[in-house]
Amino acid sequence: MNAEGRTRLNQTPEWTALAKHREGLGEVRLRELFAADPGRGQGYTLQVGDLYVDYSKHLVTDETLRLLRELAAATGVFGLRDAMFRGEKINTTENRAVLHTALRAPRDAVIEVDGQNVVPAVHAVLDKMAGFAERVRSGAWTGHTGKRIKNVVNIGIGGSDLGPAMAYEVLRSYTDRGLTVRFVSNVDGADLHEAVRDLDAAETLFIIASKTFTTIETITNATSARDWLLTELSAGQEAVAKHFVALSTNAGKVAEFGIDTANMFEFWDWVGGRYSYDSAIGLSLMVAIGPDRFREMLDGFRVVDEHFRTAPAESNVPLLLGLLGVWYGNFHDAQSHAVLPYSHYLSKFTAYLQQLDMESNGKYVGRDGHEVDWQTGPVVWGTPGTNGQHAYYQLIHQGTKLIPADFIGFAQPVAEMAEGLKAQHDLLMANFFAQTQALAFGKTPDEVRAEGVPEELVPHKTFQGNHPTTTILARELTPSVLGQLIALYEHKVFVQGAIWNIDSFDQWGVELGKVLAKRVEPALTEGAEVPGLDASTKALVATYRELRGR
Ligand code: F6P
Repeated sequence: MNAEGRTRLNQTPEWTALAKHREGLGEVRLRELFAADPGRGQGYTLQVGDLYVDYSKHLVTDETLRLLRELAAATGVFGLRDAMFRGEKINTTENRAVLHTALRAPRDAVIEVDGQNVVPAVHAVLDKMAGFAERVRSGAWTGHTGKRIKNVVNIGIGGSDLGPAMAYEVLRSYTDRGLTVRFVSNVDGADLHEAVRDLDAAETLFIIASKTFTTIETITNATSARDWLLTELSAGQEAVAKHFVALSTNAGKVAEFGIDTANMFEFWDWVGGRYSYDSAIGLSLMVAIGPDRFREMLDGFRVVDEHFRTAPAESNVPLLLGLLGVWYGNFHDAQSHAVLPYSHYLSKFTAYLQQLDMESNGKYVGRDGHEVDWQTGPVVWGTPGTNGQHAYYQLIHQGTKLIPADFIGFAQPVAEMAEGLKAQHDLLMANFFAQTQALAFGKTPDEVRAEGVPEELVPHKTFQGNHPTTTILARELTPSVLGQLIALYEHKVFVQGAIWNIDSFDQWGVELGKVLAKRVEPALTEGAEVPGLDASTKALVATYRELRGR
């Protein structure tokens, strides 16, 4: 029992029951589960919005799922969920509400923070973004010299980059192809250099995205972008207004930087950085795809929000995905989770999920301030199939680690592709289905022998199978479907954080590195003595300075 009266997670009867169940199940085989229940392939599926979710290829029985749902109930997942939707300050270490769901609430919804309905402000910003996006897209918004804007460069990092950059890739076929949209995040000058080297400054709009507007990488890049623009245009500060807009919660810092706050699109401290791309942080995306498509995406988010909030536990998809992660992480010692989209457009999807999941649930201290003694967030990784098949799938199939994986695919290729390329889609999807089949059921030694394989090669060509996967299939990749997918993962992460009793909405673990970088920089530039520098870093800094010619 901890100070708040909550029993330690791994001492609850529900946890103990799961541990016992796991022991009893032993090496449960997917081949056997499917043989015992011919209806499993249809029965172990759920639908949310446009997403068909097959969880039949998991090492679970009805009893496993029942026990996992009991764990969710006992750990207060549903109460915390309702508190989140109501706008309570469930981010306790920062004393903040967690209301990314308000970003996609309908105009007439009422969601209060500190007694104030936040929904009108959300829609006021969305309307302002829409007006701006339309002006850029129509050519009504011109640069300092009167030229039409043809290039949009978003400068931000973490949640102020990954979301819009990912979504821009996902929805590329919905974008205005006359616009060049680029994303700069790395403080390595190479990033900005490559982004602007072939652009005409007179036609370029910079969107500076930073919740705090103090993030060193973003402010450094924004300053360099401003210098580049003013030099290219041989103009003074007055040119900034037509070429720089800001997305932030910090009007003071935006003004200090020199951006007119009339050109600032606001959001609020109750939107976490990694939960923010459907806020003003999505402006670059909205310019690219247009306000109507952006709103379709928000509608998609809302479908899954409503489902998560209201669907019974038995058919609640984010709950199920969260529980499956707990099952493998806490009861099978799985360390990582792969997300493997079979769509080239989802090339940045897993990178986005890495921040969403790992910055949210990569914590060893519980809400009660005590160290947890159970596993928390997994390492999330993956790239689009089929490329991964020719790189790291070997390890998933025949390695020594259990790696649960999500496979995401679409029935339709994107509409704008040539017919010949569309025909390739069936081959892509044949791989999609084949992989989860191979992972689940493998190939027995007898099956290998039956192919005439020499005995000494039989062990090498045997696939043990039993690798668990979730398959998520949708008709086509639309803005709405993207919103649905992101909300699905947001709420999955929420469920896991609630069960593990951690605050999924702070990120104190990123602070130390930031502070140390600030301290070390003068040692690199001026050779300054940094008090308390360890021997290894001291020697590295000296070597760096020598190699840098200082
Ligand atoms: O350092 C981590 C972090 O705070 C993320 O949580 C956030 O998304 C990113 O930095 C960028 O922060 P900001 O939007 O304030 O520049």
